[in-house]
Amino acid sequence: MRRPIIVGNWKMNMLISDADEWIAGLLKNSYLTEALDIVVAPAFTSLAVLRDRIEKSGIKLAGQNIGQEIGGSLTGEISATMLKDAGCSYVILGHSERRQYFAETDEIINKKISIACNQGLNIIFCVGESLVERDSGRTNEIIEAQLSGGLANLNLIQLSQLAIAYEPVWAIGTGHTATPDQAQDVHLYIRAWIRKLFGTNFAESTRILYGGSVKPETSKSLMNQSDIDGLLVGKASLKIREFCDIINSLF
Ligand code: PGA
Repeated sequence: MRRPIIVGNWKMNMLISDADEWIAGLLKNSYLTEALDIVVAPAFTSLAVLRDRIEKSGIKLAGQNIGQEIGGSLTGEISATMLKDAGCSYVILGHSERRQYFAETDEIINKKISIACNQGLNIIFCVGESLVERDSGRTNEIIEAQLSGGLANLNLIQLSQLAIAYEPVWAIGTGHTATPDQAQDVHLYIRAWIRKLFGTNFAESTRILYGGSVKPETSKSLMNQSDIDGLLVGKASLKIREFCDIINSLF
């Protein structure tokens, strides 16, 4: 049985004062962490504030990125150890916005995943095809290339903290959620790929999240699919009521 997981990805939104108000709303629902993992990925500047507010609530914190080295002279970057220090137990890696706007290749993502694994962070590794790739029938091929590139040379012990997020690029921030069937097809493909490479036990225990314009109206039907174990929520996570509606839709 895979434990459901709902992640709010704030991206480059929300100030510390917004975060403070937002978390007060979520804390009212924190009893739900008995049944599922609730993870928040704020901007780096809000991490420490949230860490102090969520103490003992069961709510978890995620970083939205890490630098590609363990530490050192990389102005502007944040290390995996710094994320842990700021209260994170998760990190989102390979997001399509990082691939698209910051030229993150599979090789760079692989390096970051390796560092995050070795530092004991839980990883939410994002993969997803563009509309052109989907329309030309290349979805599975693209997903497979991202999976094999991102997870190259990593072993089962390193990957024990891995979750995968399927985020079709055409669904992110567009309001066009993938249909439950479209998402389930790709999730099934991802699970089959994991099974082929890492075996049945690992495939059955790995959580695969869907992300891309998830809203309270679409969350339940997505989560009803047998291979969708969680949701990565961007825009709809910025309003605490919508985020709580998504969480509550699962019950
Ligand atoms: P969205 O973003 O829900 O705004 O589409 C999801 C994501 O990019 O993680």
